[in-house]
Amino acid sequence: AAKYRPFAPIRLADRQWPNRVIDKAPIWMSTDLRDGNQALFEPMNVERKMRMFRTVCAVGFKEIEVGFPSASQTDFDFVRHLIEGGHVPADVTIEVLTQAREDLIRRTMASIRGARRAIVHVYNATSPAFREIVFGMEKPEVVALAVSAVRLIKETAASMPDTEIVLQYSPETFSATELEFAREVCDAVTAEWGATPANKVILNLPATVEVATPNVYADQVEWMHRHLARRDSVILSLHPHNDRGTGVAAAELGMMAGADRVEGCLFGNGERTGNVDIVTLALNLYTQGVSPGLDFSDINAVARTVEYCNQLPIHPRHPYVGDLVFTAFSGSHQDAIRKGFAAQKADAPWNVPYLPIDPADLGRSYDSVIRVNSQSGKGGIAYLLETEYGIAMPRRLQVEFSREVQKVTDATGTEMSAAAIWELFSATYLAT
Ligand code: KIV
Ligand code: ZN
Repeated sequence: AAKYRPFAPIRLADRQWPNRVIDKAPIWMSTDLRDGNQALFEPMNVERKMRMFRTVCAVGFKEIEVGFPSASQTDFDFVRHLIEGGHVPADVTIEVLTQAREDLIRRTMASIRGARRAIVHVYNATSPAFREIVFGMEKPEVVALAVSAVRLIKETAASMPDTEIVLQYSPETFSATELEFAREVCDAVTAEWGATPANKVILNLPATVEVATPNVYADQVEWMHRHLARRDSVILSLHPHNDRGTGVAAAELGMMAGADRVEGCLFGNGERTGNVDIVTLALNLYTQGVSPGLDFSDINAVARTVEYCNQLPIHPRHPYVGDLVFTAFSGSHQDAIRKGFAAQKADAPWNVPYLPIDPADLGRSYDSVIRVNSQSGKGGIAYLLETEYGIAMPRRLQVEFSREVQKVTDATGTEMSAAAIWELFSATYLAT
């Protein structure tokens, strides 16, 4: 099980105000191999897909959308490769996407033959723009399309007794759909599948394009949570995109609004501005003292593999993982961090100023925490000399030596490494 450590100033137990909080992790679903993959310049080949699959398994995802097998031969073949090669761990369920069309559903069902368990994810768009402009359909036709798709999946599933089929339905463009109508379609799907508390249907609510503030999405989710006819037979799922840059906020508010499950991608890959970033979501939970159930204790290894698979770099300021996020350049920050490290007790909640999480919890080292450039003060310089070279400088020497360092950084305009600082220190004070 993943370890977790709350950030001291905001422990759940200390909250004094009435509010909603997220007190347990959702069911996570990785769509890196589907929504993420379809957004790449160059979709993953089998070798990259397998590396991504193994990575999301190792991180701890139990539900993984592995492709859109009716849309491409590559995706179909990859699903077969996973199943026939015995690559799916016993506690992992693969998921496949299909549009609500007979030929595509048949092809999708063929792709998962022989799987122990699979989620069949069927979708059709429900918003007025799609009904009126894209498909020219009235509301009853949209409902009928979803219901007939579910009926076909159910019939085909009956002929595959060795495979446990779980149904997932997405009213695509949910967040732009009238709520009463979204509920009508979802209730019709739930009834057609014959969902029960022991055999739940996954109803997934996509913000296919994020178009409103995150509280609006959460209100929509909450309305569905309160009004679905068979809520006890439903796993309510979120699928935020990030067009307004608020995908993480939308997911967090959506969880507080009653959702059970979140779909997204590692480091926020996905269509346009991305799917919601599951790494940030999970580690936000971690810093609130809630075990995310996903293991990012070697986050750099995960990041490098994902960069390789997606052929996309991760931004240096990306929360938790970016190369610069545990780096302080300014002197006052360095000083506060140094004091925080000195005061931090091993088993106490994390409480180091300016660092929302212990970098070591993510497998990152303190080495890069303090870097010295022309904006740095004596604190960072003292910290580096003490931790790297065992030199504990008295305060007056710190002030004096920081002036020497400043002369160099002002002249070069560049950062100074611990080794260069040590060299300068030796030349200034230790030379015989
Ligand atoms: O964003 C979206 O609406 C989707 C659906 C296919 C679930 O990816
Ligand atoms: Zn999507």
